[in-house]
Amino acid sequence: MLSPEYSAPAKIILFGEHAVVYGQPAIAVPVSSLRATATYEATDAGLKIHAVDLNKVLPVEVDSDVVDDALIATARKVLAQLHATPPDVLIRLQSTIPMASGLGSGAAISTVLARTLIAALGQQIAQGVLNTMIYEIEKIHHGTPSGIDNTVIVYEKPVYFIRDHLMETLTIAAPFTLIIGDTGQGALTKVAVGDVRRLVEAESGKMQPILAEIGAISQQARKAIEMGDIDALGPLMTRNHTLLQQLTVSSPELDVLVDAALAAGALGAKLSGGGRGGNMIALVSPTQGAERIKQALLDAGASQVFTTTVG
Ligand code: PMV
Repeated sequence: MLSPEYSAPAKIILFGEHAVVYGQPAIAVPVSSLRATATYEATDAGLKIHAVDLNKVLPVEVDSDVVDDALIATARKVLAQLHATPPDVLIRLQSTIPMASGLGSGAAISTVLARTLIAALGQQIAQGVLNTMIYEIEKIHHGTPSGIDNTVIVYEKPVYFIRDHLMETLTIAAPFTLIIGDTGQGALTKVAVGDVRRLVEAESGKMQPILAEIGAISQQARKAIEMGDIDALGPLMTRNHTLLQQLTVSSPELDVLVDAALAAGALGAKLSGGGRGGNMIALVSPTQGAERIKQALLDAGASQVFTTTVG
């Protein structure tokens, strides 16, 4: 018999990516319309994961320590955490979240896989424990992640995130609409984070003020979001993008999309996530139709565009 469907959302970082790795605050929100989903059904052949989008069926062996795949690593972590042996189930995983594009696809897939396996074992765990587990998995993808992706995805709430601090959720006083524009170019967050680290170490005097200004922008944005002052968010986003350019994590394609959105009347625009490719976001003014900005992004070369309303 097929189980109920379990799921986890995509996410976007509104402010503070990269600087968050250095202890500055960042703001991220779930994108509930893009999701990783999973179901399970009983089999008689051990635990298997069917990654539908990758067209792969992975058997989960627990007696090997080799971590060769993040899905298998996730399953093993859940089993170890719950002191469980692998159940005889087939877990079928799917996702509508574009991969390697700053939308948290890896963390969403790990989260939904863990949720499904926990349910298949007839157990429950606290969100905080799940969040810590997914953070450990994120280290396989990212090397030294700040923890923002797993936190916003596991809790599915807007977060004001400071590394190694307790999670703070954000109250959205007035909803606002964002267009997400995909450059269509995959980029590895791990590489961008490593390059920024080298830059910060080599040119600390120049880079530290940039990181601090990004942190200050996140603080101002938090106030604006909590007061419903949407107009204030646009210029903060665009300034954040300029600072990310100075950290060398933008790309010509991201800059073209950001400029196109602003020219079409967006209140603000910036890259979102690790950068060097992946996605950008544009804040839509309530009076300037989202359609116009979407079309401008497509005309400027976006491979796909999504609309999401925050709050
Ligand atoms: O590329 P994404 O969406 O996984 O975002 C990474 C965000 C960074 O700040 C660049 C890295 C991190 O671990 O916070």
